[in-house]
Amino acid sequence: MSNVHIFPNVEALIHAAADEFVRRASESIAARERFAVALSGGSTPHALYTLLASAVYAQKIDWARTHIFWGDERCVPPDHPDSNYRLAHETLLAHVPLPPRNIYRMRGEIDPAAAAEEYAQALKAFFGGEDTRFDLLLLGMGDDGHTASLFPHTPALAEKSRLVAANYVESKAVWRITLSARAINAAAHIVFLVAGAGKAQRLYDVLKGAPQPEHLPAQSVSPVNGDLRWFIDAEAALLL
Ligand code: 6PG
Repeated sequence: MSNVHIFPNVEALIHAAADEFVRRASESIAARERFAVALSGGSTPHALYTLLASAVYAQKIDWARTHIFWGDERCVPPDHPDSNYRLAHETLLAHVPLPPRNIYRMRGEIDPAAAAEEYAQALKAFFGGEDTRFDLLLLGMGDDGHTASLFPHTPALAEKSRLVAANYVESKAVWRITLSARAINAAAHIVFLVAGAGKAQRLYDVLKGAPQPEHLPAQSVSPVNGDLRWFIDAEAALLL
């Protein structure tokens, strides 16, 4: 599969992801004077955000023209250990000259439905309508095949019109806020970052198994007018 890039280890994967971030930022700023990127949560991107904040990479990015969004957020305050915003803030946003007005946080601390509607309005205001064409959208994949906060057999998977959904995840007994598949698939460039042996079976199921997006939500990701690439380490690629 041409859109699957396998790296010998997670360090190589993270460096490739950082190079992709720099490339898409340069391209979109040259074309549109701005770079709109949606960050992923979870643990895999931690090393990416740290690398992007390093002197070598930070100087390559025009942070004043970079706009930061999220693909999903946990319904917790922004200073909570589980917050995807906190992860990005601690590793990246606090260390680069990004104007605070360029940070579009999902407010996990308020009512989930209100937070989802608020975020949808922010997206429409930024993109000038319903076409949430992120220049780059980063995603992870859980070992259950979820991506963003589109978990197997959860209500948000059925969301065909809204851009952002409040999603109750019964298996975790938590509320999440997530971009819908519609909003995700409007992106220009989508990159999955998947590392570790624990993802190998599910990754095989997602990429090589039968289409069953209700059970494997990562299969819902198929950009309408953009490209999708999988950055995978050798451990996660074991069965491919
Ligand atoms: C989240 C993420 C989620 C994540 C996967 C993979 O809020 O947790 O958005 O979709 O990308 O769970 O997480 P790891 O990178 O920690 O395996």
